[in-house]
Amino acid sequence: MTAPTLATERRIVDEGIVLDTPVMVVDESILHQNIAEMQSFANSHAVALRPHIKTHKTPQITRLQLQAGAAGITCAKLGEAEVMVAQGGADDVLLAYPIVGEPKIHRLLALMERAHVIVAVDTREAAAALSEAMAANERVLDLYVEVNTGQNRAGARPGDEALALALDIARMPGLNPIGVMTHEGHAGSSAPDAIERTALAAGRAMVETAEAMRGAGLPIRVVSVGSTPSSPYTPTVPGVTEMRPGTYVFNDNNAFRHGRIGPDRCAARIVATVVSRPAPDRAIVDAGSKALAYDPSPSHAGHGYIVGHPDAILSRISEEHGVVLLPEGEAEFAVGDRHEIIPNHVCPAINLTDELTVVRDGRPIDVWRVAARGMVR
Ligand SMILES: Cc1ncc(COP(=O)(O)O)c(C=O)c1O
Repeated sequence: MTAPTLATERRIVDEGIVLDTPVMVVDESILHQNIAEMQSFANSHAVALRPHIKTHKTPQITRLQLQAGAAGITCAKLGEAEVMVAQGGADDVLLAYPIVGEPKIHRLLALMERAHVIVAVDTREAAAALSEAMAANERVLDLYVEVNTGQNRAGARPGDEALALALDIARMPGLNPIGVMTHEGHAGSSAPDAIERTALAAGRAMVETAEAMRGAGLPIRVVSVGSTPSSPYTPTVPGVTEMRPGTYVFNDNNAFRHGRIGPDRCAARIVATVVSRPAPDRAIVDAGSKALAYDPSPSHAGHGYIVGHPDAILSRISEEHGVVLLPEGEAEFAVGDRHEIIPNHVCPAINLTDELTVVRDGRPIDVWRVAARGMVR
């Protein structure tokens, strides 16, 4: 996208408000707008929205997504799911991550007492262990077969490989393959002019794979796709039934490169204070890697986007220091000044904070606990 202009860059916290920094703030109205727009997009394409909650890890936001019409939630980890079922009102959860190992299977069985749980599976080994546990406990587990449409992370290849896996799984007692699932994250990291093509190709590969499974007698009813950058495209492929974006709820600096999202759609920001001004071209803010995380962004140089200051580059971070390189004549970085920084990748940044300070019309109105923070098991 062209560089955002100052006119489009609204700070979300009023300058007169006293805040201890660094602090993660969330603008209520941008959050609501992001949730409502994604839900209305899903509704208009008759696709179920099952948002990935790893972005916010916060029960209050899960509730907002469910109230807006989400069909259920997606989690990576059992720990996230346990929190959202206990505190976020979720009763239908996809674990979009392999469940491997006895302790996890025990927790899965316990969670199944409290919610409908679907598990993604992409190996016969993981499926066999789940099957044994389900059969021993007289339970049946719904599964999505994970398919690799090009991200080259987990997943069976579309077509014959996924079909053979699904057929083997369907023969295992206690397992019920009801869907296919992909995370077409590679579409988001492809060149901006290739994203639509890549996302549509992923969607078509999923629909064809599901068709092949149905042709072999498997009752596959869900074709689940998902990532934020590809969200305008993959769900439009006829036959896709479910979408699982996560980052959309806040958005981040990464999203700018696709041109649809600018700072005004970024709900979560780190408010940081200038704590030193050692040189005319250098300021130090109190947000480093322990507030912002280290992920790079292809959209904008440095470790985050400083709202209203597109030419100030957060060039280096250590644990508690952010080193900002300033253009000539930059006046707004005196010691004590406060700035809002949009993280490059908001999901790991949220996982670094215990609380979100919720802001309405420039003023803090609430503090939400990031209750699933650190739930990596
Ligand atoms: C399996 C799965 N589904 C959905 C998502 C959501 O994608 P995004 O963060 O681009 O919204 C992710 C993100 O990591 C994922 O791993």
